[in-house]
Amino acid sequence: MNMKSIFAAALSFSLLAACSPESKPVFDVDTQLNYCDAQIHRTLNELRNQDGVIDYTMVPRNIPDSLDTWHCRKTTKDEWCNGFWPGILWYAYEYTGNDSIKHEAEKFTEPLKFLSETPAYDHDLGFLVFCSYGNAYRLTKNPEYKKVILDTADSLATLFNPNVGTILSWPRNVEMYGGHNTIMDNMINLEMLFWASKNGGDKKLYDIAVSHAEKTMKYHFREDATSYHVAVYDTISGDFLYGCTHQGYADSSMWARGQAWAIYGYTVVYRETRDKRFLDFAQKVTDVYLSRLPEDYVPYWDFDDPSIPNAPRDASAACVVASALLELSSYVTDDKAEEYKNAAVKMLESLSSDAYQSRDAKPSFLLHSVGHKPAGSEIDASIIYADYYYIEALLRLKKTL
Ligand code: GLY
Repeated sequence: MNMKSIFAAALSFSLLAACSPESKPVFDVDTQLNYCDAQIHRTLNELRNQDGVIDYTMVPRNIPDSLDTWHCRKTTKDEWCNGFWPGILWYAYEYTGNDSIKHEAEKFTEPLKFLSETPAYDHDLGFLVFCSYGNAYRLTKNPEYKKVILDTADSLATLFNPNVGTILSWPRNVEMYGGHNTIMDNMINLEMLFWASKNGGDKKLYDIAVSHAEKTMKYHFREDATSYHVAVYDTISGDFLYGCTHQGYADSSMWARGQAWAIYGYTVVYRETRDKRFLDFAQKVTDVYLSRLPEDYVPYWDFDDPSIPNAPRDASAACVVASALLELSSYVTDDKAEEYKNAAVKMLESLSSDAYQSRDAKPSFLLHSVGHKPAGSEIDASIIYADYYYIEALLRLKKTL
């Protein structure tokens, strides 16, 4: 037995085995996954009208702090979050094998098909189509789902600027920023390009994803490995012009979810390339994030908000990072594997406590995420992508036990 297996065995024991009579088992993944399943059924009931009919184009997006029912958004080209709810349903189907949940997952996935048939509006196609159709195909192998992913990957690739070497995130904002803009969130969209290149799509999609990851690694981070939210490049020369924020506290601050996207993104890039430069970098961006977390491992929305400790937390960032670390821990040396997996478990323990779970109060899984604080939007709210990465992380943890 090597160190990694010994550690995995010890962790499984500490998580699942009965403890002494005074101390209950610390964390039972199935309890949390069953909680998610129950909340999903509550949400589905809430989405039914008086005749029991669901409008599958209206998708849960958030529950503001002051409310207790989902605010839904219509599936349109500029709504970036509508892949998460079908993704949650696919994960729930994976866990429960419940065919009625599969049916709902199919129905909420279908309205996103148009994204594979229309010109790319912006970079969010990966979030939208890989969380929904990606999980749908992974679990069903339905060739129609595969076609949607492949066509959408081609569409996303049209935003790649070879002069710069990255994907343009927001075509609508080129004039405002004075150049080709790439946001850190865009790292998540690369997974669909890698997948497509290996599953019947154009091999150039792989090169685009690698180029994006390399250029981002070079310019999108400060010396200490904390990230800008937005990097702006000269559209013609490809030169890096400046870094700034959009959703963070300041241009120079570490916006929690931006850093979370970087951790998750570079973990995926290493998985797909096995290029050690990306593994080293994934660890670097992770280590600076972990070194600055508060005691419960759920970050403040921005690590540099001067109002900390009175600033809101961002549970969504913790969910993204917990999920990423459960993967990253499988690629690194034994001591780092232990550190990353312990950190992920600690994040999930906190998120699964009454401080963060919505429980009876709301049908979401979690409270306390922040969407866009500078715009005054989704502050201290339940947000659908927090729930998506939470259930993903729980399933990943379950698979390691
Ligand atoms: N712009 C995507 C996010 O809020 O993380």
